[in-house]
Amino acid sequence: MKLNRMYSFLKTDIDEIEKELEVAIESESKLLQEASLHLLQAGGKRIRPVFVLLSAKFGQYDINIVKNVAVALELMHMASLVHDDVIDDAELRRGKPTIKAQWDNRIAMYTGDYIFARALEYMTHIKVPEAHKILSHTLVELCKGEIAQIEDKYRFDQNLRNYLLRIKRKTALLIAVSCQLGAIASGAPEEIHRRLYRFGYNVGMSFQITDDILDLTASEEELGKPAGSDLWQGNITLPILYAMESPDLKSKIEKVTEYTTPDEMKEVITSILATDAIERSHDLSRMYLDKALKDLDQLPYNRVKKSLKNIANFIGKRKY
Ligand code: IPE
Ligand code: IPE
Ligand code: MG
Ligand code: MG
Repeated sequence: MKLNRMYSFLKTDIDEIEKELEVAIESESKLLQEASLHLLQAGGKRIRPVFVLLSAKFGQYDINIVKNVAVALELMHMASLVHDDVIDDAELRRGKPTIKAQWDNRIAMYTGDYIFARALEYMTHIKVPEAHKILSHTLVELCKGEIAQIEDKYRFDQNLRNYLLRIKRKTALLIAVSCQLGAIASGAPEEIHRRLYRFGYNVGMSFQITDDILDLTASEEELGKPAGSDLWQGNITLPILYAMESPDLKSKIEKVTEYTTPDEMKEVITSILATDAIERSHDLSRMYLDKALKDLDQLPYNRVKKSLKNIANFIGKRKY
């Protein structure tokens, strides 16, 4: 099933958010608008706004209120991508040149900040102080996650705990709060928004692990960004951690630097793929996914729950 078929009953609202996102980044500055629109129109799965809307269905759903959270969360995600592509020196995003590649790093810095500021503007419509506290905390954690990734580059002595904490901060929390804030903005009871937070956290962990697997197994065409770049850039992901449990492979992997040639890199990746590292990573991703599905069990039954379940399963099996 295609992703957007899993929440077809929200189509009108999702279309409205899509339009609002374009309005949100309008600017007197042609440059800021063009760069932001470039990323917006390149596509993206819009998973965070979808989670916001679905979670809001557990309370008094009012699209005019909840859309502000949905737009804000997608904008925050986009801003983090613009900045992430600067630190990862990435050329491609959503199948298009990144802002840093099409323009430059300085422009990317301020376009990221600009998109981020627009997100804050949308959040001012939400009159629940707790929502702002939760979001600020998440963004502080996201910065810590991205900085940890810079600090940990080419550090081959990391453990599973480092990795899990990093992906929690850089990815899982934003997905968790997309669910939680959707529910809070619609006045859902605390036990429900806490449950949705758990669900989003577990989905988010599974999502980033899958992303890290795909970096090694998928093609550039499928990903819309170059494949195999994590290790090359010194980003030690889960499959790499598992592969390093074999001492021979560890010494091979430890030799990787940014100067490793494409042929040498191919050989290292082939050796990683020959181990059970990918399978074991899938197992851990699956474990988080199962936890997420269990979190759903505790929620009241409605068709929204079915959508959340389908999306969670899609995320576990996604190929892009
Ligand atoms: C990309 O997120 C960054 C990660 C957290 C892995 P998405 O895969 O949700 O990116 P888009 O929005 O669909 O492009
Ligand atoms: C995810 O990090 C991006 C953020 C959470 C900001 P990655 O660097 O692993 O994601 P991609 O591969 O660029 O999408
Ligand atoms: Mg990146
Ligand atoms: Mg990154």
